[in-house]
Amino acid sequence: MDGFHPINFGRMAQGYAAFLPATPFGIMEMLRRYNIETSGKHCVVLGRSNIVGTPMSLLLSRKGYPGDCTVTLTHSRTKDLPAEVRRADIIVAAIGIPQFVKGDWVKEGAVVVDVGINRIPDASKKSGSRLVGDVDFDAVAPRCSYITPVPGGVGLMTVTALLMNTLKACRKEIYP
Ligand SMILES: NC(=O)c1ccc[n+]([C@@H]2O[C@H](COP(=O)([O-])OP(=O)(O)OC[C@H]3O[C@@H](n4cnc5c(N)ncnc54)[C@H](OP(=O)(O)O)[C@@H]3O)[C@@H](O)[C@H]2O)c1
Repeated sequence: MDGFHPINFGRMAQGYAAFLPATPFGIMEMLRRYNIETSGKHCVVLGRSNIVGTPMSLLLSRKGYPGDCTVTLTHSRTKDLPAEVRRADIIVAAIGIPQFVKGDWVKEGAVVVDVGINRIPDASKKSGSRLVGDVDFDAVAPRCSYITPVPGGVGLMTVTALLMNTLKACRKEIYP
């Protein structure tokens, strides 16, 4: 029910009933519940991992809501990443580099989903560190229409999505 099994993944990719991978499922629910318009939007996904970037790109390009996006899937070999990100109406950042996406990479009014969870040193904290995302929140937030915080954004939705999948499994909703 984490949605990682190749059979599940294959079913999801072909649009059959499947447990969706927890993080992408949580993001799709967030887009749905905040009524974010996705149809015809250009979405740039940063990172192509099997657990986040690749399934995210598949789900957002599927027919229906949330979906019907035109998706660009980017990675470490992408040329001129800032230029790709600047074209995005929706940005999903999942690369694992703290505060990587800068303010001037983001188009005015874009929707920003920050998946990254990175710990950086912070002498002002008792623990000596704090969590930040893959997006430079302070620089990006004033430009965009929506942004998920880190912590308290996608991470919580991932846990919720896993519980939703667990409930679906218990009810035999996906595989009767
Ligand atoms: N919030 C949550 O619930 C949640 C869930 C899962 C993961 N995360 C976090 O999300 C982040 C990503 O996790 P992951 O498991 O998807 O990562 P991963 O498996 O390490 O994949 C990272 C991806 O980022 C790409 N990348 C690395 N450096 C890059 C660069 N300089 N420019 C462009 N692309 C670059 C890599 O490209 P290549 O393929 O070319 O190497 C790879 O596709 C991490 O911070 C992780 O902790 C959070």
